[in-house]
Amino acid sequence: MQAGTQKIVVLGTGGTIAGLAQGAAPGRYRAAQKPVDELLAGVVVPPGVTVQVEQVAQIDSKDMDLAVWQALLKACRVHLAQADVQGLVITHGTDTLEETAWLLQALLAPRQSVVLTCAMRPADAPDADGPRNLADALAVAADPKAQGVLAVCAGRILGAQSVQKLHSSRLDAFGSGEAGDMGRVRQGQVQWLRACVVPAPLASVEAVLAASALPRVEIVLSHAAASGAHLDALVDPDTAARHGVAPVRGLVLAGTGGGTLHHEIEAAARRAQAAGVRIVRTTRCADGWLQPRAGDEFPALPLSPVKARLALMLDLLGR
Ligand code: SIN
Repeated sequence: MQAGTQKIVVLGTGGTIAGLAQGAAPGRYRAAQKPVDELLAGVVVPPGVTVQVEQVAQIDSKDMDLAVWQALLKACRVHLAQADVQGLVITHGTDTLEETAWLLQALLAPRQSVVLTCAMRPADAPDADGPRNLADALAVAADPKAQGVLAVCAGRILGAQSVQKLHSSRLDAFGSGEAGDMGRVRQGQVQWLRACVVPAPLASVEAVLAASALPRVEIVLSHAAASGAHLDALVDPDTAARHGVAPVRGLVLAGTGGGTLHHEIEAAARRAQAAGVRIVRTTRCADGWLQPRAGDEFPALPLSPVKARLALMLDLLGR
């Protein structure tokens, strides 16, 4: 590499950003079709930046699983250990981007930038948003102030802890709620609204790489006119054995408002807890995370339900 140049490694995992409408049914497209090196064709790379690419996976992110996360974690670790790598960009489907972002932050807590990006329109759409998002993600990854895991979409820079897909079809599909955006990208220029803070890793990456499965944790939503029957069935070890799946070790209760639970769900959760299932509570609201309080029967986590599930899985993996 020439003096004064920075290397950004772009890791492809699939998603709509790599999707193609051509060959699909009218009005539809197939995610995860176009190789990551082809996604970069014509994309503006910031001055002084060289780009290396690696196709880690090619999936619709609704099907994200442990094997792909393990491959991605390994690739991130290898590239981040190279002295000449300034940062990584990961092309990802929008549907589970927030889960991958949170997991990478929790396990790698990188001092360099790891920037996930995506698209809401397939790569062959006449007005595809992927090239702009990819160019913005490269600009962020190359920025000296970028640190830790970030998401870039529709000109917004969002943090791994708070990023969430909030809209099913808008190009500007992501938000960070009251945590606020980390910054924005305008005409290739990165503008920071707050400084990146990289918390210490929450769990051992080695343990996740060595695991053949993550501890089974399910999400139960509290709602009006609820019953506890599905929760009882979920934690029944005989039911799990009949379906050939691991018994449930943890439950995330996505409560109403401030994390309150329908009394039937609460009673079933008590039975599950007495049977040794770990229970945490969060809110089903899209914003305003619960704050943990001493003495809570079911401890609260200040995370969305899907991220709380990952946090509980990592915690249970270490036990
Ligand atoms: C996916 O998540 O892989 C498909 C949907 C998308 O990227 O918008």
